[in-house]
Amino acid sequence: PKPNGDSTAMLMKSYACQRRTPLKHHNSFLTEALEILAQNAEYNDNEGRSVAFRRAASVLKALPRRVRSMQDLRWLPCLGDHSQRVIKEILEDGSSREVESTRQSEQYQVMKALTGIFGVGVRTADRWFREGLRSPDDLIRTGQQLNREQQAGVQYYDDLQKPVTKAEADVISDMVEKAVHAVLPGAEIQLMGGFRRGKEVGHDVDFLITHPEEGKEEGLMPKITNWLKEQGLLLYQKTTRNSYLEKMDGPARASSNMDRFERCFSIFKLQKSAASCKSSSAASAEDVSTGRESEGPAEHHPEASGWRAVRVDLVVSPYSQFAFATLGWTGSKLFERELRRWAGQEKHMSLSSHALYDSKQNLYLRAKTEEEIFAHLGLEFIPPSERNA
Ligand code: CTP
Ligand code: MN
Ligand code: MN
Ligand code: MN
Repeated sequence: PKPNGDSTAMLMKSYACQRRTPLKHHNSFLTEALEILAQNAEYNDNEGRSVAFRRAASVLKALPRRVRSMQDLRWLPCLGDHSQRVIKEILEDGSSREVESTRQSEQYQVMKALTGIFGVGVRTADRWFREGLRSPDDLIRTGQQLNREQQAGVQYYDDLQKPVTKAEADVISDMVEKAVHAVLPGAEIQLMGGFRRGKEVGHDVDFLITHPEEGKEEGLMPKITNWLKEQGLLLYQKTTRNSYLEKMDGPARASSNMDRFERCFSIFKLQKSAASCKSSSAASAEDVSTGRESEGPAEHHPEASGWRAVRVDLVVSPYSQFAFATLGWTGSKLFERELRRWAGQEKHMSLSSHALYDSKQNLYLRAKTEEEIFAHLGLEFIPPSERNA
């Protein structure tokens, strides 16, 4: 007779979009290690390797109990030789040498710090690393050419490093709702990304905006950002126009993970609550007396002010694409990637945040809800809180 654990392992589906992955699970001691290797592979421009480690980690997140021995992994999909070696070492010795040396390596740490700057991707960070730059301060000191986004990223670095809490996300939600309804009554706003999946903190706050009357949402973003600017609530914004054309972008490009909605990458100015403000005004007085202001006007000192900077992503979708946009902006990133892979490889369909195209029937499959999209894809519906793959 098989030991108890095997039945769940044998039932483990191989695509993350076929499984339920809760936010809190039993194997973070392993998944955290595998995700360091995944992150490092990304820094080295090795996407295949990175995805392999992420898939392995994701399978362990879906397990109903803690892994105690290699026996527990016998029937699990997506665990390559390399991942198994790492897991074995952690189970036997408490840690993996490869993971620990990666964690300690200068390249890993510098890449993490530099890609942690808003507007800085792996390519730019890697170039800076090879030029000997190590931190956001080095960029200022050596007078690097920065684009507008990166300037904001450096300026608000400390604030943007701090996780955004659910309470802060709720305050931002109220601000966004007020702005949207001031310029377009009847518009609908939905919290997306990690917070929709039940996370308690995030690196930003994501919103999807639509209006039940198709067409009313056109040109909405500049109106929203102008309203926010007038209220002094925006520290930075960059709006990209909607560039989606069904005929051109549908079947051919639908599998690209970059969508073409009107969107805005922004930084909000969030007033701190009365309680947390008290202590910071005391700190502010102290800063002046110790002359800390002279360090450089380019940087915002979070401890010295009554507000903080928060990254906010706004996306506007036509009502007819809202279900696809909702599914595409809920994440997690691996869950999204797996959905598209499932659609392509198993169903001969292509899924994007705009549409679902069926190559066999040569037609677009419409959907009003996420549930309908899962049904089109022949998948059991997975609620947002179980998409933490
Ligand atoms: N997304 C996207 N296109 C981008 C950026 C993000 O479609 N250019 C989608 C991602 O696929 C994800 C969602 O938007 O589903 C949220 O992305 P992001 O905010 O980066 O991640 P979160 O899951 O919200 O996690 P975090 O808490 O770190 O913000
Ligand atoms: Mn997010
Ligand atoms: Mn993120
Ligand atoms: Mn985001």
